[in-house]
Amino acid sequence: MITSYIAKEYLQETNQGLYGNIAENTVKLVKPFVNGEVDTLAVKDIMHSTMVMNPSVEVYLLDSKGNIVTYSAPYKKIKVSSVSLDPIHTFINAKEKPFIKGQDPRHPDEQKVFSAAPILEGDETTGYLYIILASEEQAAVTSSLFGSYILKLGSRMFFITLFGAMIIGLLAIWFLTKNLRKIIETVRSFKEGNLEARVPDSQKGEMHLLADTFNDMADTIVANIEELKSVENLRRELIANVSHDLRTPLAIMQGYVETLLMKDETLASEDRKQYLSILLKSSEKLSGLITQLFEYSKLEAKQIQPKKEPFFITELAQDVFQKYQILAKEKNINMKLDMSPKLPMVFADLGLVERVIQNLMDNALKFTPENGEVTISLQEAGQSVEVKIADNGPGIPEAEQSYIFERYRQSKFADKEKAHGAGLGLAIAKKILELHESSIRVQSKLNEGTSFFFQLPAYSV
Ligand SMILES: Nc1ncnc2c1ncn2[C@@H]1O[C@H](COP(=O)(O)OP(=O)(O)O)[C@@H](O)[C@H]1O
Ligand SMILES: [Mg+2]
Repeated sequence: MITSYIAKEYLQETNQGLYGNIAENTVKLVKPFVNGEVDTLAVKDIMHSTMVMNPSVEVYLLDSKGNIVTYSAPYKKIKVSSVSLDPIHTFINAKEKPFIKGQDPRHPDEQKVFSAAPILEGDETTGYLYIILASEEQAAVTSSLFGSYILKLGSRMFFITLFGAMIIGLLAIWFLTKNLRKIIETVRSFKEGNLEARVPDSQKGEMHLLADTFNDMADTIVANIEELKSVENLRRELIANVSHDLRTPLAIMQGYVETLLMKDETLASEDRKQYLSILLKSSEKLSGLITQLFEYSKLEAKQIQPKKEPFFITELAQDVFQKYQILAKEKNINMKLDMSPKLPMVFADLGLVERVIQNLMDNALKFTPENGEVTISLQEAGQSVEVKIADNGPGIPEAEQSYIFERYRQSKFADKEKAHGAGLGLAIAKKILELHESSIRVQSKLNEGTSFFFQLPAYSV
């Protein structure tokens, strides 16, 4: 619409530029008034020749006050009897013909471009020749022409723009969804069981975050699956081992109970006593085994969290030392406790650390032959206290030292009779120390003895 309006204005200006002198030139040729009276013939002539020159014009003859004396216009549709003289004066007085609009007698509300010239008799202005340059017809034609042209141009532009916008939009969507499609593909592949599917690193922009989040999530899921798998494997292994470990002492017990029942009458009281004491030992061992298995599986499943507190490791060592005295005496083993009295407190779980020392003492007393020696020593080591449990027993072959800490692993070298246990003692000790961010070491030489070491952090206030 704006374009249409501007184009129309431009056309009118051009019209005035081209035909602005038409009135002046015409007046020079003919005199429409003779002694104040209208020279009808002359006027007809003016009108005729002007209209021939430019059929789009409408010619008016005005008197000196602006009243319309006569006019040439088709259909005689004028609606006012006079026109305003102001624009006419402005037009006549201007040196450079300006773009100026005056009243159109046929459409008093509208302003049209025109040409005008004064009609002089002597020095007196007796009237004006007033020529509207763009007649109604032309206005109608140009406006409809322009209208349709602009409309066509406009609609063409509209469709071109729409099409362009559509293409740009589609391209944008395609680019945006390209990354999204990649992500969806990956998610689908992951869903279908390809746990290694990850969105490639090249993703940029807002999709980058989504891709990263998915990748992280996938990693977490895979890690969880792995953990579940390992827990599941452990559970299976545990069940298999437990049933085996428990069945053996149970079978022995069952055998003795059966014998006792069958030979009840014939059995000597001494034998009976022996059988019963074997039964007692077996049941003790069974309960110890169950305790160990339970403890180990809880540690493995991370169900035990250390409750750390500061305590005197020297006191704990003394307690344990005391408890093992009786057992050591039975085997005629010499026990020694070696520690400086001014050791710092340690920061650890008392119960769990006691379990570690017990497991190591169990082994030391179990494997060390009679008349042997077992030593507990405590020693400050930087910000830690080192605990060492040493014996002069059979030792562990170097090849086996690395795996005795794994569950169910027992040295092939060790006396099967003595081994007895489930092979869990060292595995439990290792797990407990891991919970304390510490570790366990072994030093051993065949036929010379074995030492186990571990450190606990000193408590600093
Ligand atoms: N002080 C030691 N002297 C010799 N061998 C040892 C000693 N401590 C542990 N071992 C070896 O390490 C193995 C694993 O020990 P452990 O985990 O306590 O299981 P278990 O005592 O039930 O056999 C033992 O079977 C034994 O072969
Ligand atoms: Mg043991």
